[in-house]
Amino acid sequence: MKVRKAVIPAAGLGTRFLPATKALAKEMLPIVDKPTIQFIVEEAKASGIEDILIIEGKSKRSIEDHFDSAPELEQNLAAKGKQTMLDMVHETTDIGVNLFYVRQPHPLGLGDAVGMAKSFVADEPFVVMLGDDLMRDKVPLTQQLINDYNQTKSSILAVKRVPHEEVGAYGVIAPSGEVQDGLYNVDSFVEKPSPEAAPSDLAIIGRYLLTPEIFGILDQHKIGKGGEVQLTDAIDELNKTQRVFAREFMGERFDVGNKFGFVKTTIEYGLRHPEVKDELRKYIIELGKLL
Ligand code: UTP
Repeated sequence: MKVRKAVIPAAGLGTRFLPATKALAKEMLPIVDKPTIQFIVEEAKASGIEDILIIEGKSKRSIEDHFDSAPELEQNLAAKGKQTMLDMVHETTDIGVNLFYVRQPHPLGLGDAVGMAKSFVADEPFVVMLGDDLMRDKVPLTQQLINDYNQTKSSILAVKRVPHEEVGAYGVIAPSGEVQDGLYNVDSFVEKPSPEAAPSDLAIIGRYLLTPEIFGILDQHKIGKGGEVQLTDAIDELNKTQRVFAREFMGERFDVGNKFGFVKTTIEYGLRHPEVKDELRKYIIELGKLL
């Protein structure tokens, strides 16, 4: 079956970015001039996804507004002949995929958020994409997972090696051999292990391809680490009844889910942004002399 649906959970409290996230989804914070969720939707589109369900939290209508038309703004830009800006605005409405929205009433964890996609997904394989991670590679990571699914017909998670002392911030896999270059069989999936207990340094990053059987497990609402329904735990359970693989991502990953990662990503993307790259480069070099 063709993979054509994606779920983007965006209902977290985003406490690491308070006060900015008090009334704004963290997925709406921009990297230079584009909200992170737009990068995610573009990656989905580039990977052949047709329908996307965005899981929203309270008072976070800004995501819906971002992908909707803005008649007053558009008329204003047209009247002033600001065509480039108008094109940019049109890109957000003519995004080339169907967007659907649902609210997660209580932020009970990523597993609970994904569980809300059950009727949208029905009986199809689907991808989960987190706005916390931006990926850059020749082939989009979501497309890489879909390519693996087309061969294996199984769930596949994206993983990346992280420094050993950082494993506690991630879900981590216990690999049991490589089936192909970079594609691992997995014994178990462990949410936020201590570095001493971590089975590897291969951390789950924000792209998952899942079979619909995950919903039978998420429906049980089992509470895990941090008092939340953990997607990693549900995947570990799924792996006991059907195979779940891990694909090691070799491209660039930008973690925008924490402040330092967000600032670094802004600089990296700024250094490639046609409008600011030259000035930014000069500024960084000058600043470096003073530090
Ligand atoms: P995070 O743990 O990174 O998001 O969840 P958070 O809880 O918003 O962040 P902090 O730690 O308070 O700063 C990973 C993803 O899961 C979504 C988040 O929006 C993020 O994309 N999420 C998390 C939900 O949609 N619902 C939840 O209940 C929890």
